[in-house]
Amino acid sequence: MMDYILQITGFLIAVVVLVQVVLTLRMSLHQYQLRRKLMHQHIEDAGQTFKIHRLSQEHIQQQESLVWNGSRKFHVDRKEYEDRNGNICSFYLVPHDGRRLPAFLPGQFLTLRLNIVNPQDRRKRGRVTVRCYSLSDYSRNPEYYRITVKRLSPQKADPDTPPGVVSNFLHDYVGEGDILDIEAPKGKFCLDMTSQTPIVLIGGGIGITPMLCMLNTIAESDSSREVWFFYGTLNSDDIILNDHLIRLSKAKENVHVHRCYSKPYDEDIQEADTHTGHVSVDLFKRLLPSSNYSFYICGPPPMMQSITQDLNTWGVSDEHIFFEAFGPATVKPQVREESKDTASDLTVTFSKSGETYPWDPETLSILDFAESKGVAMDGGCRIGNCNTCLTAIKEGEVRYVHDPDTVPNQGSCLTCVSVPAGKLILDA
Ligand SMILES: Cc1cc2nc3c(=O)[nH]c(=O)nc-3n(C[C@H](O)[C@H](O)[C@H](O)COP(=O)(O)OP(=O)(O)OC[C@H]3O[C@@H](n4cnc5c(N)ncnc54)[C@H](O)[C@@H]3O)c2cc1C
Ligand code: FES
Repeated sequence: MMDYILQITGFLIAVVVLVQVVLTLRMSLHQYQLRRKLMHQHIEDAGQTFKIHRLSQEHIQQQESLVWNGSRKFHVDRKEYEDRNGNICSFYLVPHDGRRLPAFLPGQFLTLRLNIVNPQDRRKRGRVTVRCYSLSDYSRNPEYYRITVKRLSPQKADPDTPPGVVSNFLHDYVGEGDILDIEAPKGKFCLDMTSQTPIVLIGGGIGITPMLCMLNTIAESDSSREVWFFYGTLNSDDIILNDHLIRLSKAKENVHVHRCYSKPYDEDIQEADTHTGHVSVDLFKRLLPSSNYSFYICGPPPMMQSITQDLNTWGVSDEHIFFEAFGPATVKPQVREESKDTASDLTVTFSKSGETYPWDPETLSILDFAESKGVAMDGGCRIGNCNTCLTAIKEGEVRYVHDPDTVPNQGSCLTCVSVPAGKLILDA
């Protein structure tokens, strides 16, 4: 009997040991496979970073010579309406001199200098008006530049406001074959292509254009970088390039496209990955596995303001939040607060008319101030990017309330992003 018990015990111990050995081997194999996969992923990612970095460097070096100074003539090769109601139009712009185009960084914009002619008499030279438009498509070797422009109609709340000058001019009077004066791509709101950090691209309304360019860049480079693309519009009437977005999200495992409609039609929210309401950090919390992303935002000021604040509250630090304003937007409230100088000795003199005015601390910039006094000054982007408002200072100093792309030399200022820092005399 004792022998029998010993035999059974021995057998059971042997079975347990065998099971442990098998489990350990399986675990090791699994861990080995996992490690191998991770290692391959790292090698792939590093290679990807290197590949993209190398390509970017190559482009920058090889194509530096292609960048031009001042304006260059482009003709409109193609004009395509992108939305259901014909309010948003893409212009495919080809250099009229037939020479190659330099590559650009995804997120950059073009500066157009338009001669706004009187539609009744197109022979007369009109007023030169400057506006910036983000590049909305990407190619490593561009044969054209694409911009996508929304027509600005009079505001619904105040139908007496005039319609947007340039957007309407482009829609109504610029057609295929017409020639435009365009400055080389610029801007610092760019996707860092040397990094593999996962990204969240957030576009509201027409603010989607630089995001499209960033998304297309990642798609074109075959990068495995994780991208979440959130696109906010009123409803499907306003959405552009929807088929393209759906195609991309189906074709690329790393690309996740979500559309948010604030006032959707019933059928809008039947589609996959659509949501009712504005793009919000609450939605990110529901969909993203963590907050460890770089966030790129472009859209109406209230949207940018609320998202940046909520991201901060979620623990995302400022160095992971990048944004672009399409106008004199105040993304950070402190920008406006800082500009509220109350010192009574702040004055601005416009030397050409000889008029001197006490500074109004409610005004956001010298350019706004000049316009409110009926003083003609050139303006373009109104966010310190395009240099159109560069004005010579005859006496005094300015303070920048918003960092310009490049701070001008001593003796000049960008009036769209500065306020007087004492008695100021401008050559205007
Ligand atoms: C870096 C950058 C990138 C940009 N990218 C794009 C882009 O990709 N696509 C795009 O469509 N836009 C883009 N923009 C915006 C673009 O540059 C223009 O600002 C936009 O097209 C409006 O120009 P506009 O001449 O048509 O309107 P404006 O004539 O400048 O008028 C602007 C608004 O003010 C209203 N308005 C005009 N006069 C008055 C008045 N007296 N009282 C009250 N309201 C008035 C108009 O109705 C209009 O709504 C970008 C801007 C920047 C700075
Ligand atoms: S208007 Fe563009 S820099 Fe001032």
